[in-house]
Amino acid sequence: MKSSTEKFKSLPAHVAIVPDGNGRWAQKRGLPRMLGHRAGILNMLKMIQYINEYPIPFVTFYGFSTENWTRPQTEVKGLFGLVEKFVEEHLEEIHERNIKIRHIGRLQGLPAVLQSAIKKSVEHTRSNTGMVLGIAWNYGGRTEIVNAAAQLMTSKIKPGALDEKTFASYLYTAGMPDVDLLIRTGDETRLSNFLIWQTAYSEYYFTDVLWPDFGKQDIDLALTAYGKRNRRFGGL
Ligand code: IPE
Ligand code: MG
Repeated sequence: MKSSTEKFKSLPAHVAIVPDGNGRWAQKRGLPRMLGHRAGILNMLKMIQYINEYPIPFVTFYGFSTENWTRPQTEVKGLFGLVEKFVEEHLEEIHERNIKIRHIGRLQGLPAVLQSAIKKSVEHTRSNTGMVLGIAWNYGGRTEIVNAAAQLMTSKIKPGALDEKTFASYLYTAGMPDVDLLIRTGDETRLSNFLIWQTAYSEYYFTDVLWPDFGKQDIDLALTAYGKRNRRFGGL
């Protein structure tokens, strides 16, 4: 395999992924949606391992949004169960790869067992020094911003002293760089309240591939496309 520096013109420091299309993947096969989610979570593990081979220091996945609560109870419960199982079965593999897990979102409101599974995955990998893996779970971008504002109102920071850098340090993603590349699978071209602050200057990559089918070649295509973008950040 060519080294990643030969293969791509430049690599993003932070890739954010909206892994969409699990339900449609299952429906297309006449399977229950839940099997699509199971295929999706296994693909997530595969892709984490693959991306980890590149010098990409931050990857964040959109797992469950604050709006996903409106789905049928059975699907919500099923998703929570899948995550608990995932932590049970795969946390060690992730830990062995020196990957550090960050929870991006709100623990409050989640079932106690799921809260402990998430806490366990964060605690267990806390001292790891490799790739940072953000898992957005019970996450909403607007909620994140409101939450930061509320904390600032009771902080000692004076309004005149508040700048973007300080504000960002109150977000769930504190200490993580802005998103360079946002990938959304599943043929939808919207952000859906995901990292709305952190994607202000991101490059967007949309594909109609459904998440469980999204493989190594597809991520390479996204990274190649990213390497060709001319990022100007408002300059010339
Ligand atoms: C994405 O797949 C996973 C989550 C939002 C949890 P979907 O469940 O949105 O799949 P589609 O869009 O119905 O195919
Ligand atoms: Mg969807």
